[in-house]
Amino acid sequence: MKILFVTSELAGLVKVGGLADVSAALPRALEQVTGDEVRVLLPGYPGVLAGLREAAPVADLPGLAEIPPARLLGARGPDGHDLLVIDCPGLYDRPGTPYTDLAGRDWADNDIRFARLALAAAQLAHGLPGLDWQPDVMHVHDWPAALAPGYVAWNDGRQPVPTVTTIHNLAHQGLFPAGRLGALGVPEAGFAMEGAEFHGQLGFLKAGLWYASEVTTVSPSYADEITTPELGCGLHGLLGGLRDTGRLTGIVNGADDSWHPRDDPYLVRRFDLATRDEKQRNARAVRQRLGLAQRPAPLFSLIARMVWQKGVDLVIDACETLVRAGGQLVVMGTGDAALERRMHTLSHRHPGSVAVRIGYDEPVAHNLFAASDFFLMPSRFEPCGLTQMYAQRFGALPIAHRTGGLRDTIDDGVTGFLFPDSSVRSLLGAVRRALLTFNHRPGMGRMQREAMQREFGWDAPAREYHRVYARVHSRALAAGR
Ligand code: ADP
Ligand code: GLC
Repeated sequence: MKILFVTSELAGLVKVGGLADVSAALPRALEQVTGDEVRVLLPGYPGVLAGLREAAPVADLPGLAEIPPARLLGARGPDGHDLLVIDCPGLYDRPGTPYTDLAGRDWADNDIRFARLALAAAQLAHGLPGLDWQPDVMHVHDWPAALAPGYVAWNDGRQPVPTVTTIHNLAHQGLFPAGRLGALGVPEAGFAMEGAEFHGQLGFLKAGLWYASEVTTVSPSYADEITTPELGCGLHGLLGGLRDTGRLTGIVNGADDSWHPRDDPYLVRRFDLATRDEKQRNARAVRQRLGLAQRPAPLFSLIARMVWQKGVDLVIDACETLVRAGGQLVVMGTGDAALERRMHTLSHRHPGSVAVRIGYDEPVAHNLFAASDFFLMPSRFEPCGLTQMYAQRFGALPIAHRTGGLRDTIDDGVTGFLFPDSSVRSLLGAVRRALLTFNHRPGMGRMQREAMQREFGWDAPAREYHRVYARVHSRALAAGR
């Protein structure tokens, strides 16, 4: 089957979080495992255009209302994968992230910028003059791409191509004022509860859920959680209905092979199950590099976007106890300025025991996983989470809140430690269990070996996505497309 994979991030070219990792790994796995032919469509941010190989214009993308026309480039990514890139400098040629300027403020024209992405997807699905490629299934990711199933449906009132929407994080919905409908070319009829409207606003993700043939999210537990008022972000009714009709599936993410201590080019010292003790060398190097005291202390790390979702404030509040118990802590991340400041204060209060690195650094991240005994992930909610899987591969036992994908990928007491509530007390309970294990060498070794042997590959998830594609495709055929 031919699949159009629509995303705003792609590891190797543009990354804010796990969506980038998934967008790089899943298409590759699909091609290898199921034989699907996947083309990834994404906006031409400066980092994307700079990283393309063999880029050439392949079609013109017409505008709509205030959405400007653009050029579609065909190209290959750094790993050789087929990409389709929207060349529209007026919208994408800016410094900053895909979503915000350098000061962290959302771009004022984000509605137009991501409507451009969604509209391009719909135009591709309908067929573009000069381009002899049309997908059998369109697969869109998160709110930035989620208006696409809407544009497909509004074009002529029928679904010319079946669509799948994947929720990576329901907390971000892409809500814009109703007054923007005209600018985005959304028909009045589409602005209804049975459509793109969400409490009087235009909801990009709402459109993606309403108009998609099927919806998936990134773990079975999160698929259940988003049908409840607690984690449904106001969409639990709609999502519950989808689940009851078999149209909401949870498919857990994988961890691709670029995350493996055996052949990781960033590591000071590579290792595998048999040479697990080499972790110590990596730990010594990290201690030296980050100014931690060289002692055989249990090393905890936290690598995350510094935001409320990730529960980093719980780690700040637990830090005193952790250090008093003899632990060392390394934190790396960027995000909320207040959280960053509080982290800095911690490192000043506990020199030699707490190191904080504000920033985003892939090589350091790899080395931290390799060096750490324990990896903290106290997320308040977590649709899937990738870092807890990477940590297990590197023999760093995750200590995580029992929620979403963390519950589905960590075996409590076997490959890591799960705690029940989003509270400092509950987190510290798990930290204590971890310390007891650390002080009992055979137990620690057993858990590390179990963790390092977990597969977490992309083959099984790719097969599950293929089943969803096959289902929506055959249903569309039966409906006489
Ligand atoms: P989310 O997508 O919610 O941020 P995930 O666990 O799915 O969480 O993915 C996070 C990804 O971002 C991982 O690849 C992780 O290694 C990476 N990451 C997060 N913060 C940093 C950082 N400060 N430096 C390097 N990599 C980071
Ligand atoms: C989102 C979620 C994270 C998930 C990632 C990739 O960023 O917060 O849990 O792993 O998407 O699916």
